[in-house]
Amino acid sequence: MAEAAPIYEGALDRGLEGVVACTTKISFIVGATLNYRGYTIEDLAAHSTFEETIFLLWNDRLPKQDELDKLRKELGAEMTLDAQLISTLKTLPTKGVHPMAWLRSATSAMGLYDKEAQDDSKEANYRKALRLTAKMGMLVTAFERLRTGKEIISPNPSKSIAWNFFYTMTGNEPDAEIVKQFDVCLILHADHELNCSAFAARVTASSLSDVYSAVVSAISALKGPLHGGANEQVMLMLKDIGTIEKAKSWIEDALNNKAKVMGFGHRVYKNGDPRAKILRSMSEKLTAKMGQPHWYQMSDMIDDVMQNKKGLLPNVDFYSATVYYSMGIPIDLYTPIFAASRVSGWLAHIFEQWTNNRIYRPRGKWAGKEGLNWVPPAQR
Ligand code: COA
Repeated sequence: MAEAAPIYEGALDRGLEGVVACTTKISFIVGATLNYRGYTIEDLAAHSTFEETIFLLWNDRLPKQDELDKLRKELGAEMTLDAQLISTLKTLPTKGVHPMAWLRSATSAMGLYDKEAQDDSKEANYRKALRLTAKMGMLVTAFERLRTGKEIISPNPSKSIAWNFFYTMTGNEPDAEIVKQFDVCLILHADHELNCSAFAARVTASSLSDVYSAVVSAISALKGPLHGGANEQVMLMLKDIGTIEKAKSWIEDALNNKAKVMGFGHRVYKNGDPRAKILRSMSEKLTAKMGQPHWYQMSDMIDDVMQNKKGLLPNVDFYSATVYYSMGIPIDLYTPIFAASRVSGWLAHIFEQWTNNRIYRPRGKWAGKEGLNWVPPAQR
């Protein structure tokens, strides 16, 4: 009988740090910044839109005008939540439920109503990608409406995903500047090479499971506070600190107690997260616009303390917290918003995985016992 395949020496108990797990062309950290398909996020944040970025991530090139118009139309047509799905969503509990747990279940339920869920043709998978990307933000606002006892609002298919996020959450036409800045946030969160949730999506996709299952795996991974859950924790921390005067000692105490300060540090960026730089100036402008500049000032002070005391720089989650807060978005929806953007990247990863698939199946380095013999319970 053939022996098991050989194991490469050295167990990787450090979160696969530095391990190259696949070849990818979607996004990559090049030098000090992040690229999507060869374009820097600074370039895209300054000039692109979320819809255009979706096309870029899925097609490996920017769209021509008619292609962009077509994608906008397709997304608009898929934004509205179906009546059947809404009636199921109304049965899901919302009290004491984390919005990411609800979103995970809602996305899974959406898959149950999708007649194409098991159709793995390229065309059906593209339609599922449209559905998931168009609806994810609408699911988030549906949660907000349902938990506050309000009716779900139908989106306006001629408007963008960013515009409809605010519209379906509040029922009011949103401020154009807020929509623009939120759209930039969606661009900045759309993909980030082989992060935990994209990897989770790829692992599930590698078994040739379906698109919905892979996206639900990714949502589950994103939920954790070491990944997408950090932005919500940042705002809770700022509120807990309360005033600028208390910020320095609060952070010093946290560091003395070996606590992790959310929104700082990164596995890959050691000289700063380029997305944080863009979000930082957005936070400064928006907190001033809402007449609450102290949230930015407090963040700025924490940023200084973290750099001086620990040599750690802010990541994408640190300044996005005050950006979303300034936009009036409930704090526990920050991570679901991350999902509403990142779903576009997850889908790109799922499809890329399938272009050259091999099931992910690593080994563990055995560190347990051997040679034991079973004995009946009475003799143990
Ligand atoms: N606050 C305080 N200390 C931190 C820290 C933080 N946010 N991030 C890292 N450190 C410290 C660790 O305690 C560790 O110190 P030690 O060597 O004295 O034990 C060292 O820096 C290395 O950290 P480590 O957790 O091993 O880094 P990692 O690459 O495994 O993890 C993160 C990266 C992002 C998970 C980690 O920095 C973190 O937990 N940050 C807070 C959560 C967060 O903002 N997540 C969003 C990521 S975009």
